[in-house]
Amino acid sequence: MTGLFLTLEGPEGAGKSTNRDFLAEHLRAAGEDVVLTREPGGTALAERIRELLLAPSTEPMDSDTELLLVFAARAQHLAQVIEPALARGAVIICDRFTDATYAYQGGGRGVSPQRIGVLEDFVQGELRPDLTLIFDLPVEVGLSRAAARGRLDRFEQEGTAFFESVRHAYLERARCCPERYRIIDAAQPLKAVQADLLSLLPELLERARG
Ligand SMILES: Nc1ncnc2c1ncn2[C@@H]1O[C@H](COP(=O)(O)OP(=O)(O)OP(=O)(O)O)[C@@H](O)[C@H]1O
Ligand SMILES: [Mg+2]
Repeated sequence: MTGLFLTLEGPEGAGKSTNRDFLAEHLRAAGEDVVLTREPGGTALAERIRELLLAPSTEPMDSDTELLLVFAARAQHLAQVIEPALARGAVIICDRFTDATYAYQGGGRGVSPQRIGVLEDFVQGELRPDLTLIFDLPVEVGLSRAAARGRLDRFEQEGTAFFESVRHAYLERARCCPERYRIIDAAQPLKAVQADLLSLLPELLERARG
């Protein structure tokens, strides 16, 4: 009944959502109680905050407003979904979490990591993901996959430099704390990505079972 808080990170089009379902299927087949969720969002109220964050708007959103909305949604998600699931020993697979805040609001928008850390401690206390998979790929590859899906959201409308900073920030996070992160080469064909994920499955199960 230890449970596992697993987060999936990486830029647009990296394959987080595709592989979230793949991982859930395999963990469920192994008998785990799996909760699939995402950020920003994961509850009705947090999904409304997500809409505010993603909708293109003529009024520029101040970077602090963006940061506070992200953490407001996260507070709701933690209280309603993540903390109860962890309390009952479930495996949570969360599509983006606070590493995305360090990457997008930090790397992308230029908010200092110290400023983000204050809110991280405020909203999460000591809670951090047990393991984070970073789906890494060249910026153009991710953007072209995302563009193929249709209308671009407020973040997807950013330019290449923004996404280079996002990628750099993710890789820096992983470099500083190798035991918490696994980098997945997301530019590979989907089958190869999924083979890499399957090779992580024994470790995930071991951690989930304490
Ligand atoms: N390894 C891959 N090779 C080629 N195409 C892929 C691969 N992984 C995912 N895709 C495709 O790329 C698109 C984006 O994938 P997906 O929606 O899973 O990305 P995402 O990381 O969740 O993106 P976002 O952050 O924008 O939600 C989808 O059409 C998906 O089928
Ligand atoms: Mg997705």
